[in-house]
Amino acid sequence: MYDYLIIGSGLFGSVFAHEMKKAGKSCLVLEKRDHIGGNVYCEEKDGIRIHKYGAHIFHTSNKKVWDYVNQFVEFNNYVNSPVANYKGELYNLPFNMNTFSKMWGVATPTEAAAKIAEQRTAIQGEPKNLEEQAISLIGTDIYTKLIKGYTEKQWGRSCTELPAFIIKRLPIRYTFDNNYFNDRYQGIPIGGYNVLIHALLDGIEVRTGVDYNEHRDEYRKLAKTIIYTGPIDAYFDYKLGQLEYRGLRFETERLEEENHQGVAVMNYTDRETPYTRSIEHKHFEFGTQPVTYVTKEYPADWHPGEEAYYPVNDSRNSELYNQYAALAAKEENVIFGGRLAEYKYYDMDDVIASALQAVATQKE
Ligand code: FDA
Repeated sequence: MYDYLIIGSGLFGSVFAHEMKKAGKSCLVLEKRDHIGGNVYCEEKDGIRIHKYGAHIFHTSNKKVWDYVNQFVEFNNYVNSPVANYKGELYNLPFNMNTFSKMWGVATPTEAAAKIAEQRTAIQGEPKNLEEQAISLIGTDIYTKLIKGYTEKQWGRSCTELPAFIIKRLPIRYTFDNNYFNDRYQGIPIGGYNVLIHALLDGIEVRTGVDYNEHRDEYRKLAKTIIYTGPIDAYFDYKLGQLEYRGLRFETERLEEENHQGVAVMNYTDRETPYTRSIEHKHFEFGTQPVTYVTKEYPADWHPGEEAYYPVNDSRNSELYNQYAALAAKEENVIFGGRLAEYKYYDMDDVIASALQAVATQKE
């Protein structure tokens, strides 16, 4: 018998297992995939760590979480400063003085603000759709070159057909600051995310290639308490229906050149380029290898059985999730946690904070 059976070796499961082991409890971790780490897992090729499930940049203002992860691994000083590529014209993101100066030749915050104010007047009255909302916030040029195509590719629909509420506000900075995040701390683990996961799971029994839902009878009886971090609908055999996700398709290429795009993250903001982002992984870690790996990200429809990326927070899915959550609340000695079990977009720092909170409930 174990004290805890932990389903899933992503950040939630790994942090939980680590803390419980430290508290003297025995844990068994089951992982469906053939590797540990969940979505932060990186695959290493030619000395370059490839973010297999999408680019992961650690950023947080939560000092407790920052100190927590730094016990296991040091972070480098990577600062996310993506570049937008609109038909070959390059602009800094997030929208800041560098963007405005390139777009209009303006040199001061006052000139930039005046330009935006003038262009915002293209929309009078209450915005009726996402296009009108975006123009009313930031004006026509930024909308046309940096928002329209990207958003349409992401949602698979025209901005005039998308509701205005999707964009509530657009961050505008009147400083020459290309740092994408406003958080106090940011970086990439030195040696990659696998170092963090290995340190968390050090000394803990892990079985990979095991889908708990297919082997429940065998494993349920092995522990008093279960921590379940897989999809909540799968736990209940989809008996109320399937929750939906937005999919992503990744195409990774090895290129015989040292530096392909000069930045880790490039957003393609025109409608014609079929992918939304191109990630050059080595730049997350200031790599100097003679070759490089570049991943193109294509937004895709999701089909059951495929990797689940982003939850769809429409009313059908939110209601369905609430019904599953009500069933989950009745399960005795099972804790549901993490992005799949809570059907929620979670950043890494929030998922760690949430796992630490679950740990605290066990120590009470
Ligand atoms: P995660 O999905 O990592 O782990 C769950 C594990 O459970 C998986 O390994 C899965 O295989 C396993 N599992 C599921 N069902 C099972 C079963 N039945 N039996 C056994 N095992 C099972 N965050 C951030 O802070 N900065 C960023 O830049 C990004 N970038 C980013 C890009 C993309 C494309 C996505 C989708 C997400 C991000 N994130 C992010 C969010 C980040 O990925 C997220 O916070 C963590 O991975 C969540 O960790 P979990 O442990 O909850 O889930």
